[in-house]
Amino acid sequence: MQKNRTLAILSSGGDAPGMNAAIRAVARTAIGRGCRVLGIQRGFQGLVEDATVELGLRSVSDIIHRGGTALYTARSAEFTKPEGFLKALRTLERHGVDALAVIGGDGTFRGALELARHGIEVACIPGTIDNDIACSEYTIGFDTALNTVVEMADRLRDTAQSHERCSVIEVMGRSCGNIALVSGVAIGTTAVLVPEIDFDFELDVVERIENTRRTGKRHFIIVAAEGIFKRENARFLYAEALAEAIAQETGLDVRSTVLGHVQRGGIPSARDRIMAAEMGYLAAELLSTGRGNRVIAVQKGAVCDLDIEEALACKRTFDFELYRMAQDISS
Ligand code: F6P
Repeated sequence: MQKNRTLAILSSGGDAPGMNAAIRAVARTAIGRGCRVLGIQRGFQGLVEDATVELGLRSVSDIIHRGGTALYTARSAEFTKPEGFLKALRTLERHGVDALAVIGGDGTFRGALELARHGIEVACIPGTIDNDIACSEYTIGFDTALNTVVEMADRLRDTAQSHERCSVIEVMGRSCGNIALVSGVAIGTTAVLVPEIDFDFELDVVERIENTRRTGKRHFIIVAAEGIFKRENARFLYAEALAEAIAQETGLDVRSTVLGHVQRGGIPSARDRIMAAEMGYLAAELLSTGRGNRVIAVQKGAVCDLDIEEALACKRTFDFELYRMAQDISS
């Protein structure tokens, strides 16, 4: 074991429930292995601005059950510019930081890779509600967000059923349909619309509604990932526009709901806390023994670590089989 190492932790990008449990696991593990631990506030922006706090065993108490991130988060444009990046490196140097654990999504990992190329030992922990890190089957926050979406959709279903309406629900996922797809399976939707698949409004929405209507269905739920409204040449720019078109084509009474940032907050689920603990523990184990430039991931159901360059070269895949299944059982 190497003694007297200084390890820093930051969270960056969109927050995700479970990030606090990961911060706690990294800090406690590293301190237990003789490291000094620093928290960096507001992600890479905090590195640029030297916003650091010393973390002790007790400063990460009472956060395991809280959503958000106690270290705050940001998307830093300054860090991506040469001057800002240099400031970030100087902060790390000033505090004698040997190793850095980052918690976030793809953009966070790319920032960490730049630091790794400048000699900082890094370990990246996947934390985003989108579950869109190519090398990992799971990202911290996904399960909690899914549970929130399902709970909200169940409430919307009650009122859609009572009024015999169609409910269009927009969920998060700017470029990834995982929340829409998996929540769609749990909700039992008439249609799921994701940015990974071009959809034909008449065929994939109107016809699906009409087909189930003919068999006696009286209320309908359409789940759409926000990414479908942001695609180039998108036919509908908002959930409301999609709802209006459905009303026009089917004569149904349609309402749209954009779930938005409620999906990012809330008490982390048991699964997210456990994943965060396992991932944070491994990250700190690696960094406290000088093994840097790793990405923590879940592969074949197990937490593991991968080389950062290899991890970032992985291509994201979409679960077309699950999508087909969702379509088949919502007839
Ligand atoms: O990173 C996750 C995510 O929730 C995306 O699905 C969404 O598009 C984005 O963050 C929105 O984040 P913000 O409003 O913080 O920019």
